[in-house]
Amino acid sequence: MSEKMNIGIILGSTREGRVSPAVGEWVKSIADKREDANYEIVDIKDYQLPLLGEGDAPGIAKWNEKLAELDGFVFIVQEYNHSLSASLKNALDLARDAWHNKAAGMVSYGSTGGARAAEHLRGIMGELMIADVRTHPTLSLFYDFKGQEFAPQDLHLETINLMLDQVNDWSGALKPLRK
Ligand SMILES: Cc1cc2nc3c(=O)[nH]c(=O)nc-3n(C[C@H](O)[C@H](O)[C@H](O)COP(=O)(O)O)c2cc1C
Repeated sequence: MSEKMNIGIILGSTREGRVSPAVGEWVKSIADKREDANYEIVDIKDYQLPLLGEGDAPGIAKWNEKLAELDGFVFIVQEYNHSLSASLKNALDLARDAWHNKAAGMVSYGSTGGARAAEHLRGIMGELMIADVRTHPTLSLFYDFKGQEFAPQDLHLETINLMLDQVNDWSGALKPLRK
């Protein structure tokens, strides 16, 4: 049996009242059923990261250590003013080598499925040498949420599993490049 990859499901929002934990836990529940990788929620908020350049808080080293343990990522991406959240961008900026030669998928949400935020994240991933997979489940604030309550449609299960197939495959394929 091939080695299981360690895949981090990264919550992109640190906002008070955020819905990203519910989305992340739902993605993890789908992922865990597959038993093909070790999936874990990685919450940016736990690291209390300062803005880049505003000091050397202990969370920065811990954040890099956590990323170094991971082979691939699923970003939970929410749309803020047609882009990704400032907290996710800052967390991306606060690591470098720990991102390199790994694969990532995204699950985004917003009024148009978070598509604009996700496309911005793809550009950033190119610079960080993260191989972003094609399949991208998009959740609608109108059809997958009832007010503040997260109520995802079953139709997303197929694309989430396809995205996870691709993240696993590419995380494994890139392993020889990771030192
Ligand atoms: C400052 C701000 C800007 C936002 N801009 C957008 C936007 O441009 N497009 C969109 O679809 N949703 C936008 N939203 C709605 C968020 O996507 C929505 O609140 C989502 O739940 C945020 O994710 P979170 O709850 O995990 O923090 C915005 C929300 C805030 C607070």
